[in-house]
Amino acid sequence: MKAAGDWIDYSSLKPLVIGYVDGDGIGPYITGEAIRVLQSLLRDELERGDVEFRKIEGLSIEERARAMKALPDDALDALKKCHVILKGPLTTPKKGDPWPNLESANVAMRRELDLFANVRPVSIPSEGIDWVFFRENTEGEYVLGSKGFNVTDDLAVDFKVITTQGSERIIRLAFDYARRNNINRVSVVTKANVVKTTDGKFLEIARAISKEYPEITFDDWFVDIMAAKLVDTKRRRDFRVIVLPNLYGDILTDEAAEFQGGVGTAGSANIGKRYAMFEAIHGSAPRMVQEGRAQYADPSSIMRASTMLLRHVGMIDKARKLEMALDICGQFEKKLVMTGRPGGATGREFADYVIETMNSDDLESRWLSYTGKGI
Ligand code: IPM
Ligand code: MG
Repeated sequence: MKAAGDWIDYSSLKPLVIGYVDGDGIGPYITGEAIRVLQSLLRDELERGDVEFRKIEGLSIEERARAMKALPDDALDALKKCHVILKGPLTTPKKGDPWPNLESANVAMRRELDLFANVRPVSIPSEGIDWVFFRENTEGEYVLGSKGFNVTDDLAVDFKVITTQGSERIIRLAFDYARRNNINRVSVVTKANVVKTTDGKFLEIARAISKEYPEITFDDWFVDIMAAKLVDTKRRRDFRVIVLPNLYGDILTDEAAEFQGGVGTAGSANIGKRYAMFEAIHGSAPRMVQEGRAQYADPSSIMRASTMLLRHVGMIDKARKLEMALDICGQFEKKLVMTGRPGGATGREFADYVIETMNSDDLESRWLSYTGKGI
């Protein structure tokens, strides 16, 4: 971590290799639709050979169970040969499931590819909410999450790990993001009043780093009251950039996404200096598959993740187009409504609606008529 190199420059890569993982459960349905949207958006780049889509095999829960590995070696090698990755949700086995109790593939991938920053935006323009969560992505309760043990029949122990380097890099990224985007507030969330050593370190480092950004207001919150404040309609729009350790970030971002229209609408970027992976914030929803409803799963989440991927590699105009189309289709015009059930639109129908909107000549003027904003 101390010797980490510089950030990768995507503009010099030809072709830019976009790997994609279908995922488990509803994964293949929603990922397939996101890839279809991206293929339409990047048609010229694909034809010119500037961009290549590459399917990554070997990561389904069946294949991981067969290999008895959270991240089978061949799949990890294939992931490392891509520049950026779009990943459908992968089933995480838990105690009592029919699968071996393997570590989460997500967690393993974040660690193996050193994707230390989990960036999760939540925006509700009509309420003035524009939050960006910077969740630390490789430490906390997660790093040794499969290494806990039962000391006796009655005593179970897990671990929480926080390092100076791990905290510094996520906190700095959050402040740099705020500075670059003229955002005047960064809030750090911990439970440093109780979890004194690890959360105490995170808070202390945040406080020290905040001094280097005098133009940005810095405040700190405990995770319990922050969970409450996110519901407080009088206060919540004041929050802008929120930086927090891994598990608190996991929990609060699901809560935040719910206000935006559900976890099915939220994307998530997992960013490191060398690799980056983009995904929906939700899981594989096996219940939807069991009940025969997978085709009704909302692909907006992974399409939002796709906009983050495009921004990350510098294709800002393409990202804007898809963002505007998703705003129009999902938040404003809503000609089709996803309910997750028969009666609502299917993911395929929604993707067709997004593609048609995205490619329409009046995309921008339509978007502006709804938001009344400049770009
Ligand atoms: C997420 C998920 C994962 C996490 C699970 C699947 C391990 O909830 O990406 O938020 O806890 O990080
Ligand atoms: Mg989560």
